Amino acid sequence: MSIAPHGGELVNRILTGAALQAAKEKAPSLPRLKVDAYTAFDIDGIAKGMFSPLKGFMNSEETRNALDHMYLRPGIPWTIPIVLGVSQEDADRLSTGSEVAIEDDRGDLAAILHLSEKYSVDKTDFAQKVYRTTDPAHPGVAYTMSLGPVFLAGELDVLQAREIEFQEVNLTPAETRAAFDAKGWKRIVAFQTRNPIHRAHEYLTKSALEICDGLLIHPLMGTTKSDDIPGDVRMACYKALIEKYYPPNHAMLSIMPVNMRYAGPREAIMHAIVRRNYGCTHFIVGRDHAGVGNYYGTYDAHYIFDEFKAQELGITPLFFDHSFFCRACGNMASIKTCPHGKEDHVFLSGTKVREMLGRGEEPPAEFTRHEVAQILIQWAMSTEGK
Ligand code: ADX
Repeated sequence: MSIAPHGGELVNRILTGAALQAAKEKAPSLPRLKVDAYTAFDIDGIAKGMFSPLKGFMNSEETRNALDHMYLRPGIPWTIPIVLGVSQEDADRLSTGSEVAIEDDRGDLAAILHLSEKYSVDKTDFAQKVYRTTDPAHPGVAYTMSLGPVFLAGELDVLQAREIEFQEVNLTPAETRAAFDAKGWKRIVAFQTRNPIHRAHEYLTKSALEICDGLLIHPLMGTTKSDDIPGDVRMACYKALIEKYYPPNHAMLSIMPVNMRYAGPREAIMHAIVRRNYGCTHFIVGRDHAGVGNYYGTYDAHYIFDEFKAQELGITPLFFDHSFFCRACGNMASIKTCPHGKEDHVFLSGTKVREMLGRGEEPPAEFTRHEVAQILIQWAMSTEGK
């Protein structure tokens, strides 16, 4: 028996059989709304239950609760509103109480929205609460500010799950739950990442696995900012690393097709809740989780968990301090476990690593495994990585 989903029910909004047929027949006569890839990923997250208990885009009350109190409703923590922002013209032509056919970024009919409310939110307030900044240089703030002024709420009926690259490892929450049951795993720790797995990440995952039955390596593969390492390069790194350095009976790779929001602490809570929906019991939160630039304190994403009751979150966070290889200790360690100074620690900034890779230089083995470094060098030296 796996862990209960957030809110109690694993949502599935994907139509099948006669209902799917009926929706397809009806759709051409409905008003149409075109959405971008970001929104298409959000629809997919609702469709497959990653965002349980959401059944559609959030209404004004839910959005206000999330922004002001970090709850969807009493007892259900929720930190980042999932909203559909549209232009004033689109809002004017779509009426509350009607159905709207949603076309995704690829021109496919993705879903039918049962439009229940049109509302507006002060986007500066939205940004300040979610991202703790209104700086337009913050990628999450920039996206929020680019949204249309009217938000549409309503339940979704989804015509098809969104197919992306790496479909073979794009398990739905129902499928990861079934996989964990089949493996007999009861304590499952999820690892969120948007980067290649370096030695520090590997240390976190393996330390966590020591106290769990299984590890879900769960890279985020929704939209990311343009200077993040592309998904296909990361995937090659994950596969190379896992094949050689992780035990197949205790570790599995699957992706999470959810957008990166760069919201630091609030996104750490969201990441944990989504992993609960995937059936995980534990969740790794390291330094500056889901952070970008210098907007968040190194451990703000740890502290925010104190603001919730453990049973309401329903998944146990495993907090890790800044980790590195220490030459004096002769092993991976963290500032919690290592008594030595910075001079003994192998630490490289992201910028420095990029520069080395771009020159075809391998970062030290204490920082990145050879197999991963080789893939990254190939990418960094190609035009794509420049
Ligand atoms: S994130 O946006 O997904 O958080 P990243 O892929 O770099 O970025 O990090 C994945 C996870 O590893 C996060 O929980 C992050 O806090 C943690 N992490 C990354 N590097 C370190 C490190 N050197 N020490 C401790 N935790 C780390």
